[in-house]
Amino acid sequence: MTLSRKVRGDEAHRTLARRPLYATPGETTEVPRYRLPEHGMDPDEAYQIVHDELMLDGNARLNLATFVSTWMEPQASRLMAETFDKNMIDKDEYPQTAELELRCVNMLSQLWRSPDHEEATGCSTTGSSEAAMLGGLALKRRWQQRQRAAGRSTERPNLVMSAGVQVCWEKFCRYFEVEPRLVPWTPEYHQLTGAAAAAACDEDTIGVVAIMGVTYDGAYEPVAEIAAALDALQARTGLDVPLHVDGASGGFVAPFLTPDLAWDFRLPRVQSINASGHKYGLVFPGVGWILWRSPEALPDDLVFRVNYLGGEMPTFALNFSRPGAQIVAQYYNLIRLGREGFRRIQQASMDTARRMAERIDALGPFQTLPGSAIPVFAFRVSDPHVSYDVFDLSRELRSRGWQVPAYTLPPDVSDVAVLRVVVRNGFSADLGELFLADLERVMAELATQPAHHRPRRSAFHH
Ligand SMILES: Cc1ncc(COP(=O)(O)O)c(C=O)c1O
Repeated sequence: MTLSRKVRGDEAHRTLARRPLYATPGETTEVPRYRLPEHGMDPDEAYQIVHDELMLDGNARLNLATFVSTWMEPQASRLMAETFDKNMIDKDEYPQTAELELRCVNMLSQLWRSPDHEEATGCSTTGSSEAAMLGGLALKRRWQQRQRAAGRSTERPNLVMSAGVQVCWEKFCRYFEVEPRLVPWTPEYHQLTGAAAAAACDEDTIGVVAIMGVTYDGAYEPVAEIAAALDALQARTGLDVPLHVDGASGGFVAPFLTPDLAWDFRLPRVQSINASGHKYGLVFPGVGWILWRSPEALPDDLVFRVNYLGGEMPTFALNFSRPGAQIVAQYYNLIRLGREGFRRIQQASMDTARRMAERIDALGPFQTLPGSAIPVFAFRVSDPHVSYDVFDLSRELRSRGWQVPAYTLPPDVSDVAVLRVVVRNGFSADLGELFLADLERVMAELATQPAHHRPRRSAFHH
């Protein structure tokens, strides 16, 4: 659940104990749970209440559901604590934080192979979702300009992508009134192919999105093949459809583990790329990146120039104020690890993921989905004789503290349900062994229980 609701009736009057520790009878007072208290309290007391409430959250290190970093070095945490007060928008006040953002954009343009003769341009965001909104808006605006110049309608824009896109792209389409043209998955093929992408395009297509690290199974879509199909489409019909790469996860994996794979600005068709700094960029939640291949790919009328903070600041973002600490932490990671450090870490996570996937396949009733290219794997129950399903396994693993989501694949293949494991920096081979031992224990327990009415099949929750 991401939306909060107004609490009504008796529940609205519930209270919290003010002295949860060492309470003496008669001394414990209460504070309203859902109403603003009339008076404040001592900071230690407030800290203790909040701290105790948060103990009920899952243990982030045992969360195999999220792609987002749950561990950083103490030095990075210290830098973040030192910069919690910096606002990214105040570039005139914090020119050095702005300089670190600029350096990150430059390092990413190098990592994503921007040709020397081109000037890539980009910015940090709160994550890949905001980056997707900005990337989608640039595609839409460029399409509007092309349509107007050709005297054609701008009424019905569409965006072509696989049915396996992350929800942020469906959000973009709904929020900014673009038809999501989702190419379905088939039982045999779980990716957008070049042929399917080109076939779905028409003169109202603002762009095609290809994914490097599909959320459901970790696969890379064949970006070069899609680019070639769009080149051929242009040669055949004159339609010039730009390609955006959603590298939320793969943008920080492919440059280190498969440097020869051309999925990035080496392909002239690729106009923009996004990635999550807080996923395999190894930063705590709150940072993403988007780069355009050249200033021409980012229409100037989307960029606002404000002067009320001193200086004239170009800004393209959905937020105004935004914490700067994550950008500082991203820069720390980039210089702390360098190319070799990133390669080692991503390779270690990849090795752990592959080893775990092999061991899970060897257990018997399971089959991992093929094709994952990032340290993520999904597996399904393939033995029709076992009495449990992935939802049972997910629930039982949770009782041991492991958070492993179970979900069905996209429409057209939604009869397949999988469990997904995301291996991140900090998930050691040792924790992997503990997980496998718990998985085997849970399998044995479930095998002895008759199948009963259990909650079944949930669609994917991002
Ligand atoms: C492929 C893909 N795109 C976009 C996103 C959204 O990223 P963020 O959580 O950084 O907004 C995700 C998140 O898992 C993803 O896997």
